[in-house]
Amino acid sequence: NKFATILAGGGGTRFWPLSRQEIPKQLLNISGHDIMLNDTIERFKGIIPQENTVIVTNRSQAVLMESIMHSSVSKRNILIEPVARNTAASILFAAFSIEKSHGDSLMVVLPSDHYITDEEQFRLTLDEACTVAMETDQIVTIGIKPTFPSTGYGYIAFDKEPISSNPVAVYEVAEFVEKPNFQKAQGYLSSGNYLWNSGIFIWKTSVIIDNFKRYLPRLYKTMLLISDCLGTDQEEEIINKIYPTLQNISIDYGILERSDEVVVLSGQFGWNDIGSWDALGAIFPPDESGNIIKANHMGIDTRNSIIYGTDRLITTIGMDGYIIADTEDALLICPKDKAQSVKEIVELLKEKG
Ligand code: GDD
Ligand code: MG
Repeated sequence: NKFATILAGGGGTRFWPLSRQEIPKQLLNISGHDIMLNDTIERFKGIIPQENTVIVTNRSQAVLMESIMHSSVSKRNILIEPVARNTAASILFAAFSIEKSHGDSLMVVLPSDHYITDEEQFRLTLDEACTVAMETDQIVTIGIKPTFPSTGYGYIAFDKEPISSNPVAVYEVAEFVEKPNFQKAQGYLSSGNYLWNSGIFIWKTSVIIDNFKRYLPRLYKTMLLISDCLGTDQEEEIINKIYPTLQNISIDYGILERSDEVVVLSGQFGWNDIGSWDALGAIFPPDESGNIIKANHMGIDTRNSIIYGTDRLITTIGMDGYIIADTEDALLICPKDKAQSVKEIVELLKEKG
């Protein structure tokens, strides 16, 4: 049994004003191809049966999601969290749910906010990762060669010699560091011994549940109460009561940094976490002035900027290194190097009601 678990409950607040509480990033068609969630499902075709897709999301997103998601996914396979409690909880929720209905199974965890090129290479890597996870009792991760000292990713230190290398190099993991500071990230980058954590994980449900038991026992015990009620009449009531009390921690801090049974496959495909406006360059190549323009735009002396809009005409003069994101009812203007702070605007808006 092979299952995909897609984490699709993040807010994507750094993509405001395009992403809103009810229409988060994973439900947006940013690439012009399809919504990110559907692209994620389409990507593992041939490796995992698409009907074996489990999606974990928030109540506020579920209704819209059901109406626009890939038709091969059954509504029964959408697990709804009453409140967001971070990725460790979402993953354990899905692991228990899969194990309860199908016994020990292979589980592939995929974020829903990635843009991947060279999908053939991606599938080759994922297939090999499934084989490794099936044959061992390890946590299998997929790493990506880092290109800049990002402080928004996890870093995986791998051993010099691979355990195997056909068709994809597999390494023992020496250390996992989630979101290091800039100085550390610079060191990791120049050492050549670290890969970025792609956020894609492959394991048996029994293996990850065992890791929770060891490293996040409190979360494990509380989630058992939810697991026990799955499929019963009290399911919804108990989930509503218990879920908000779960420990709020990411899988990276909670398990990956602590476990010593982690291996990494070196992914050779094009990978990007479309986390904020400045990441659009990964999808759309800039024009000769360095601009990425997805808008009705006219400009004089406008460079290195990202301009995203509707039919409304946007004009700019003498602008360098800015983001403009225009929607029906809200407009964002910010320098590119402040792209990460867009989430603070969302916080501020929430505070002000
Ligand atoms: N259902 C659910 N509930 N999904 C969630 C929740 C939650 O409470 N929180 C986050 N997610 C989803 C997001 O929608 C996304 O698809 C995925 O889980 C990862 O969460 P992010 O919030 O985007 O994590 P990140 O990008 O900061 O860091 C993770 O991904 C990086 C690569 O993209 C870490 O795994 C890093 O180590 C990694 O490098
Ligand atoms: Mg992310």
